Amino acid sequence: KTKRFRASILHFVNDPAKVEKVESSYEYFEDGLLTVRNGKVVSVEPYSRKVHGRRGVKDYRGKLIVPGFVDTHIHFPQTEMIAAYGEQLLEWLETYTFPTEKQFEDKAYADKIAKFFLEQLVSNGTTTALVFGTVHPQSVDALFEAAETINMRLVAGKVMMNRNAPNYLLDTAKSSYDDSKALIQKWHGKGRNLYAITPRFAPTSTPEQLTLAGKLKAEFPDVYVHTHLSENLNEIEWVKSLFPERAGYLDVYDHYGLTGDKSVFAHSIHLTDDEWATFAETDSVISFCPTSNLFLGSGLFKLHVAEKNGVRVGLGTDVGAGTSFNQLQTLNEAYKIMQLQGKKLSAFKGLYLATLGGAESLSIDHLIGNFKEDKEADFVVLNWDATKLQKLRMSRSTTLEDRLFALMMLGDDRNIEATYVDGRKVFQK
Ligand code: GUN
Ligand code: FE
Repeated sequence: KTKRFRASILHFVNDPAKVEKVESSYEYFEDGLLTVRNGKVVSVEPYSRKVHGRRGVKDYRGKLIVPGFVDTHIHFPQTEMIAAYGEQLLEWLETYTFPTEKQFEDKAYADKIAKFFLEQLVSNGTTTALVFGTVHPQSVDALFEAAETINMRLVAGKVMMNRNAPNYLLDTAKSSYDDSKALIQKWHGKGRNLYAITPRFAPTSTPEQLTLAGKLKAEFPDVYVHTHLSENLNEIEWVKSLFPERAGYLDVYDHYGLTGDKSVFAHSIHLTDDEWATFAETDSVISFCPTSNLFLGSGLFKLHVAEKNGVRVGLGTDVGAGTSFNQLQTLNEAYKIMQLQGKKLSAFKGLYLATLGGAESLSIDHLIGNFKEDKEADFVVLNWDATKLQKLRMSRSTTLEDRLFALMMLGDDRNIEATYVDGRKVFQK
């Protein structure tokens, strides 16, 4: 069945930082028409009343359609502990995170939060995410089962964690391997679901567990690896003391075969030159999590250095350490992080990161990320001016870039008019 949508339409075809003229990184149709059929994009083009008529065209004139947002790092079990006061990473984990995650041994509880979590994603315009579960395999079942009900493209995995956490949250090297393998066989490539091998971070895995995680990756090369890296200075010191034989934090993952073009390392704030080189050599990926990095006082991510080294970067909310599910809010804070380093983040680069850049960082830009023919029809309808202040600000705006920048700074879930997944509306304001 064919569906047509009339609106202003923006999508990216390239990284704005990689092209000579920013205009060649995107296509913008002031009065555009997006046609989708059976959950796939057929075309995006200027609207013409002569050619398209008015019947059967969903009229979103005055709104902006962009590809669905991609969140490259988020923890669904931490939804309820968002905004937990006062601690930095390691104390925050002990005080708030581990007790919260314990609840997901109960499948019914995991089902309930998974449903709530997906509602939060789509009501914020996010249509694909790379998601941490808990150590419990049933937490991942809960999430994928919920995603299947709306045919949403998710990448997720069970946490592997066999030391340095409360006993009630530990698996063993062997059980984590067996459980992860069973989940891969059950879910990876089923519908739109994809699996990520998910050691929490180096401090909570023994060398034996990391060895088995690497073995699993070697057995299933097209599944993802998803973990945390160099978020907090105390964390980095701890890794050095736990793995004194390794050259540094990233070398731990590299040594166990966990780097690569489908390996996503959340944060990666405090990297050495050698680590940047390893990122480039292995084509590994970074998830930049601005609200989390500010909230936990972790540090300022060097997006400009990633760009210089040709390292792929996606945008992550990292809820519950992140303080918003919303990618506009996330970009707002990303902009400020760059300002604090004397750098800029343009609206074009920001929106690229939230869409095509996210898809590229997950190596699924052949499936999602823009409106090229045959891509999966995941998109958001944005309201430019959901508030009086936004209306006033937009009224004095004369260029697309300025309007997009104001949206990126002032926008949040109030600006999400509707969200479509697989060509079907899954959220309406
Ligand atoms: N490092 C290890 N676990 C976590 C987590 O749950 N959140 C964040 N932000 N960092 C981590
Ligand atoms: Fe995280």
